Amino acid sequence: MQKRLMAFFTLLVLLISLFTPTFAEIKSHGITFNKRLNEPGQCVGNLTRRNHPTNNPLGCYILNATLADSLDIKEYRDQDGNLMDPGLCIIHCADYFYNFAALTNSNTCRCGNKTGLDAYTKLTDSTLINQNCNLTCVGNSSYICGGKNSFTVYNVLNSIPSYTVPNNMSINQKSEIINNLSKDSRYLGCFKESQYCNQRVLNGTSRDLFNMTVSNCLGFCWNNGFAYAGLEIGSQCFCANNFDSISRLSIEDCSSSCVGNSSEICGGPLVLSIYNSSYYNANSNNTNLSIGGIVGIVCHDEPIQHLNGEKPEKPI
Ligand SMILES: *[C@@H]1O[C@H](CO)[C@@H](O)[C@H](O)[C@H]1NC(C)=O
Ligand SMILES: *[C@@H]1O[C@H](CO)[C@@H](O)[C@H](O)[C@H]1NC(C)=O
Ligand SMILES: *[C@@H]1O[C@H](CO)[C@@H](O)[C@H](O)[C@H]1NC(C)=O
Ligand SMILES: *[C@@H]1O[C@H](CO)[C@@H](O)[C@H](O)[C@H]1NC(C)=O
Ligand SMILES: *[C@@H]1O[C@H](CO)[C@@H](O)[C@H](O)[C@H]1NC(C)=O
Ligand SMILES: *[C@@H]1O[C@H](CO)[C@@H](O)[C@H](O)[C@H]1NC(C)=O
Ligand SMILES: *[C@@H]1O[C@H](CO)[C@@H](O)[C@H](O)[C@H]1NC(C)=O
Ligand SMILES: *[C@@H]1O[C@H](CO)[C@@H](O)[C@H](O)[C@H]1NC(C)=O
Ligand SMILES: *[C@@H]1O[C@H](CO)[C@@H](O)[C@H](O)[C@H]1NC(C)=O
Ligand SMILES: *[C@@H]1O[C@H](CO)[C@@H](O)[C@H](O)[C@H]1NC(C)=O
Ligand SMILES: *[C@@H]1O[C@H](CO)[C@@H](O)[C@H](O)[C@H]1NC(C)=O
Ligand SMILES: *[C@@H]1O[C@H](CO)[C@@H](O)[C@H](O)[C@H]1NC(C)=O
Repeated sequence: MQKRLMAFFTLLVLLISLFTPTFAEIKSHGITFNKRLNEPGQCVGNLTRRNHPTNNPLGCYILNATLADSLDIKEYRDQDGNLMDPGLCIIHCADYFYNFAALTNSNTCRCGNKTGLDAYTKLTDSTLINQNCNLTCVGNSSYICGGKNSFTVYNVLNSIPSYTVPNNMSINQKSEIINNLSKDSRYLGCFKESQYCNQRVLNGTSRDLFNMTVSNCLGFCWNNGFAYAGLEIGSQCFCANNFDSISRLSIEDCSSSCVGNSSEICGGPLVLSIYNSSYYNANSNNTNLSIGGIVGIVCHDEPIQHLNGEKPEKPI
């Protein structure tokens, strides 16, 4: 009997010590609390890790002036105009299920469906290529981002091994999911993230999960005593008690599907979908979500691909 009681108390002590940080953090709820875990993703210098294509560009293209422009999405740029690189453009086009990502004028991204290059001519003469696609990307000078009137074009499919897009969804469904967020009372908006590892917009605790969902992040932040939960690039979750709301972007700038539930949106590259984490508590008894999961860096080994054949091809 005593032995059992001892065992019980040992277990209790063990359990309490395991969860002590959680309890301490719950107690601190409401107070700004800046204990930080390792932030998800690696840093390059003090910049956040960016995404890089594993394939070379298809080439340097120019519009055949006698034809109607066949690329979609007129101009996508990052908010500050200084982050554009092939990874950002390819992910943006992948999120909207396009086939081609075309970079132009050093800072601009356009996307095309499978007819996207029909009105474009690929340059083959190396002198012409160097004269036309001669601008480095504003976000990373290791890459060429077209020229004033020319385009460095990448295939989207299989391009970025660390990023996956759902294969069971049409662009219309995706647009509906994104636009429905305006009716989600938990949702506070899409916000610009800092490119500096040490200056995250939500600068409390964070984690990265291969099965990240919105409620997982809300639960994680709520249980760690934070009022706001922000999701980024599908799998990362950041928490804080305040943030700078002047960096609000438009709703469609957050276009990454959550890796754990493709019917939800989890930010994008260097953009955060920010939610009010107190809704986690308000509408659920699902405490299991608070503990599950692993903390740390998660690698996705799947290339960008759409396993179920044809991709939907309309712009939003
Ligand atoms: C790190 O980032 C800060 C801005 O937060 C910048 O001022 C500084 O120069 C950076 N340091 C390095 C080594 O890149
Ligand atoms: C432009 O398109 C027209 C019509 O299809 C074609 O005749 C012409 O050869 C094209 N020019 C180039 C440079 O591809
Ligand atoms: C790129 O080429 C254009 C002409 O095609 C030229 O006007 C411009 O100065 C060049 N830019 C650079 C950075 O070489
Ligand atoms: C720029 O791109 C190169 C080549 O992919 C990469 O090695 C480097 O880390 C990138 N720089 C940043 C700041 O991401
Ligand atoms: C969007 O909201 C409408 C109305 O609330 C709902 O009927 C529809 O299923 C939602 N769409 C998605 C993709 O969640
Ligand atoms: C975290 O961000 C807030 C603004 O949202 C700022 O007041 C605070 O100083 C930041 N804390 C750290 C440790 O950077
Ligand atoms: C796509 O499949 C995932 C599971 O693989 C599911 O969670 C999601 O709801 C599905 N989305 C649609 C639009 O069917
Ligand atoms: C995925 O997200 C949708 C939209 O929030 C939700 O209705 C659905 O229950 C979620 N699925 C799972 C398995 O959590
Ligand atoms: C977050 O939600 C709670 C209710 O759950 C509400 O009292 C609070 O005002 C909300 N905060 C914001 C910033 O919307
Ligand atoms: C949560 O659990 C409590 C106690 O078991 C119950 O009274 C309450 O209705 C539950 N709330 C929800 C939203 O299920
Ligand atoms: C996510 O994966 C972890 C580790 O496998 C698991 O413990 C957790 O229950 C999962 N969470 C969800 C919401 O599926
Ligand atoms: C592909 O893009 C072209 C040019 O914008 C457009 O005319 C065409 O309708 C698109 N095709 C599909 C299937 O969306």
